[in-house]
Amino acid sequence: MSDRAASSETAVSEPPTTDELTPPDRTLMGPGPSDVHPRVLRAMSTPLVGHLDPSFIEIMDEVQELLRYVFQTENRWTIPISGTGSASMEAAIGNLVEPGDTMLVPTNGYFGGRMASMARRAGGEVVTVDAPWGEPLEPSVVEAALTAHEPDVFGFVHAETSTGVRQPTVPALTEAAHDHGALVIADCVTSLGGVELRVDDWNIDVAYSGPQKCLSCPPGASPLTLSDRAMEKVLSRDSEPRSWYLDLSLLEGYWGKDRSYHHTAPVSNVYALREALRLIAQEGLETRWERHRHVAGALKAGVEGMGLEMNAPEEYWLPSLNAVVVPDGIDDGAVCATLLEEYDLEIAGGLGDLAGDIFRIGCMGYSARPKNVVYVVSALGTVLDSMGADVDPEGGVRAAREAL
Ligand SMILES: Cc1ncc(COP(=O)(O)O)c(C=O)c1O
Repeated sequence: MSDRAASSETAVSEPPTTDELTPPDRTLMGPGPSDVHPRVLRAMSTPLVGHLDPSFIEIMDEVQELLRYVFQTENRWTIPISGTGSASMEAAIGNLVEPGDTMLVPTNGYFGGRMASMARRAGGEVVTVDAPWGEPLEPSVVEAALTAHEPDVFGFVHAETSTGVRQPTVPALTEAAHDHGALVIADCVTSLGGVELRVDDWNIDVAYSGPQKCLSCPPGASPLTLSDRAMEKVLSRDSEPRSWYLDLSLLEGYWGKDRSYHHTAPVSNVYALREALRLIAQEGLETRWERHRHVAGALKAGVEGMGLEMNAPEEYWLPSLNAVVVPDGIDDGAVCATLLEEYDLEIAGGLGDLAGDIFRIGCMGYSARPKNVVYVVSALGTVLDSMGADVDPEGGVRAAREAL
């Protein structure tokens, strides 16, 4: 470099004096992320290997096998997508929906709206099947929408995190969709690994999830599974999907037989996912579903015992996300902020049509433990009481303990 060029350069700016990382020690009982199991955190801090290292290829095989177990599927096309739940969601919708296709999506929660947005971006035409926020889809209403629109793809949310609603009657919905020639995409972000889900038995064509809910894993590698029938459609598209990164026909090169480079896998996240899935295999899937029902059942007993009301009836209650009605005259935002500040405890308020009406209390994975439930019931009761709500905090804790 010439002297003139060197002298015209300005000095680099001062480095920021950023402190060492010391995040607060929160108890995560919100809509996600959930508390991460210590074994998962340890797995994340083990040394990196290359994403094409033979040892990593073995890890990829193990992760795929474990994912098939947790999804209860024999689908070959079962992989973690690099990115958060929205990445596996967009991989599902962006590959399955071709320009000109029609996709039927629900309007009963926030994530049905996101499905619609992704389908539109994929060039699809969006039609809706309606139910109020806080209620599941009725099979007869879905049937009527299928008859009216004859869509190519039908998407539904198995566990709606924005409303605390579990979609019951899944086999009836998939049967109706198949009778009308539509492929079915299920959002299982808040159900996989915590709530009964049987991809093959229920004839779901495509299911996607995220790791930071019932898998109790940091976000970053998000489960996706596709049936052969769904993959046939993906591989016979007339046009390429709009996203190169999420193009499943290209990702097949890495996660399929070839194991050739597509993009650098998030190695530490794949380690974490492997350990999170191994924890589920060790616990046993049915035992784990039962644990979520039992521990979240105690949470439900606790909030009801202090005098609050659940937003969803037992029939479609979602153990991993408990929607609790905010008592009259109480500011949900102030309650959440106080719990965070004074108790290091995260819960959330409502969204969309239910903003201000519900608290959303997660009970997922490693967060679904008796100690967390007693803590959240006790802290919530105390804070609500201090704000003048008509609640019985001791009654709540007693009811939760009894149910445990
Ligand atoms: C039901 C549902 N679908 C999709 C997503 C999107 O996942 P992410 O925020 O990890 O991108 C979420 C996240 O909360 C969710 O709850």
